[in-house]
Amino acid sequence: MGWRILSTFEFGRNPEDLQGEVTRGARALVVLPDIRQKGGLGEDAEARLEEGQGLARAIGLEVVDAFILPIRAVRPSTLFGEGQVERIGVAINQSDADLVVVDGSLSAIQQRNLEDKLERKVIDRTGLILEIFGERASTAEGRLQVELAHLDYQAGRLVRSWTHLERQRGGFGFLGGPGETQIEADRRLIRNRMGRIRRELEQVRRTRGLHRERRQRAPWPVVALVGYTNAGKSTLFNRLTGAEVMAEDLLFATLDPTMRAVRLPGVDKVIMSDTVGFISDLPTQLVAAFRATLEEVTAADVIVHVRDISNPASAAQKREVEEILADLGVIGAEGSKVPIIEAWNKWDLLTADEQAMRRDIIAHDVSDLPVVPISAMTGEGTAALLDQLSELLTGGAQVLEMTVPMADGKRLAWLHTHGEVLSERQVEDAAGAPVLRMQVRLTPRELGRLTRL
Ligand code: GTP
Repeated sequence: MGWRILSTFEFGRNPEDLQGEVTRGARALVVLPDIRQKGGLGEDAEARLEEGQGLARAIGLEVVDAFILPIRAVRPSTLFGEGQVERIGVAINQSDADLVVVDGSLSAIQQRNLEDKLERKVIDRTGLILEIFGERASTAEGRLQVELAHLDYQAGRLVRSWTHLERQRGGFGFLGGPGETQIEADRRLIRNRMGRIRRELEQVRRTRGLHRERRQRAPWPVVALVGYTNAGKSTLFNRLTGAEVMAEDLLFATLDPTMRAVRLPGVDKVIMSDTVGFISDLPTQLVAAFRATLEEVTAADVIVHVRDISNPASAAQKREVEEILADLGVIGAEGSKVPIIEAWNKWDLLTADEQAMRRDIIAHDVSDLPVVPISAMTGEGTAALLDQLSELLTGGAQVLEMTVPMADGKRLAWLHTHGEVLSERQVEDAAGAPVLRMQVRLTPRELGRLTRL
């Protein structure tokens, strides 16, 4: 009898014990490792550093400092060399950072060692993106996929960090059978949870069809905003939808908080749908989660591709976005199945010369898609964007109010055959003759034919 040492050592610390949580408003230091062995980032490095900061801001972190560290030889223990770790430590002190974002991939051991040395929480790119998806996933499926990816990520860390430190559970834990080690028990818990989520996903996929059907029955078209991370989608979404909060929103709010109804001339209403930003070098375990958050895009009537046109990497970002749209089946071999409008955002950040140059490009139709220069920030160009949207959705058709004498059978018959009659009401004109007051949707060409009847 007597006593037993339950645990001969403390494995790690509770992450909660570390200073600096990934919470909104936390002060983050962003470090981009530029791994020269793999060819290095070259000219893309600055843009990548910008992107990393954008990702950190996307979950509400305040970026207090950011820099690139070239890595000539990867250190298995800390990724960075000793001097570089010191440099990060100095930067933490100078900028009073709460946590460190390493915009690259860290092994579990590297992450732990860095946390130990820096005395701050450290997250890597995958961890950061998981946080973003977790916050943005708006459909049930999206949330489950993100959780699955999270568990997968955790399981990976568990295996790698615990193998050399396995501790015997000595047979008295109630989690597992005799001799089951802690790591096996943890792994089993994660596996069970993943199994449960997979079954829930099945269920959600079955009901999802129902939701989409319900939405398709809503008489309004869906416009999806897509774009590279930090392009300004959410700013645009808020600008376009912020002014109007409608009762109908409630229907969608329960399904999805990132959808809202917007009034459009000639179309009555459309449903605007904001999506999670596209990100380069998406870790493979996140691809399914990412795609699940983009479900709306495949069902959209029009896609607005929001581009940060002031970003030097704008063209490369466009290619990435289009590749993902192709992956989702939206863009096929014969071009896009859904009409796409490009919104060239952040126009306000361009110099007059740059604006003139881009206007030239637009005027010469170099891009095969309709392009509208906008600033989601100032609101410039957003009216033109809405006009383009209604034109695309209606083929230029407009809803016209007209009054037609009941006696004019020819015109009435024509309107019913060629136009889309939205409403009609019989009233009397000033002279007491019966007339029909009608709301009819007509394209400009049809209107021309009507007047020539
Ligand atoms: P993710 O959520 O990461 O996909 O980003 P997003 O595309 O939703 O971008 P968001 O709307 O969050 O904007 C990113 C940053 O760009 C924010 O700091 C915005 O204030 C800024 N921004 C957006 N539109 C404009 C614009 O037209 N002009 C300028 N100057 N800044 C803009």
